[in-house]
Amino acid sequence: MTMKAKAAIMVVAVTMMVIFMTTASANEELSVRHRRGTLTQCSGGKRVPVRICVKTAEGNAVQSRGTDSDVRVRLNGANCHSPVYDLESSNDDFEQGDYDCYGFKTYDVGTPVNSIQVLLVPFRDSWLMDSMVLRYNNAQPCLRFYLRWWFTNQTPKTLVGPTVVNCSRYSL
Ligand SMILES: *[C@@H]1O[C@H](CO)[C@@H](O)[C@H](O)[C@H]1NC(C)=O
Repeated sequence: MTMKAKAAIMVVAVTMMVIFMTTASANEELSVRHRRGTLTQCSGGKRVPVRICVKTAEGNAVQSRGTDSDVRVRLNGANCHSPVYDLESSNDDFEQGDYDCYGFKTYDVGTPVNSIQVLLVPFRDSWLMDSMVLRYNNAQPCLRFYLRWWFTNQTPKTLVGPTVVNCSRYSL
């Protein structure tokens, strides 16, 4: 191999390392920002449509899994978080086995939407959530946040680690 070729390989290698390190530190910064909870509320820019479908766990005879509490959500995006939205319709929502869908518009939180914060306020009774499926800004695919979790008070819980799903399979 000539000296020139060796030098060229060296330059490419160093460039790739610099790119890798820059990307890694940007990701690090983002996750630190999230961990410390300093994501600020979005306050302007364009508004985008959001659709969320909520699955309440199937029933059993021992304890009702549905709730009469209001279910509220907050989207944590790549750039900022949304206000808290009340998921409500004229139906009796969040009964056992129900699959209810809601729509609203929010300032763009930035993609990916990393997590959804869920809280029952005002809290009336416990709820066993199964999952939430999110369609953000009419995008396909959708994100499914699966977590069978009992909500037993109004303390917010955060759904993380979504899987990518086909929106049409979830009526979105
Ligand atoms: C999503 O599912 C629908 C209905 O099953 C199917 O027609 C469509 O091709 C799927 N889209 C993708 C991107 O997989």
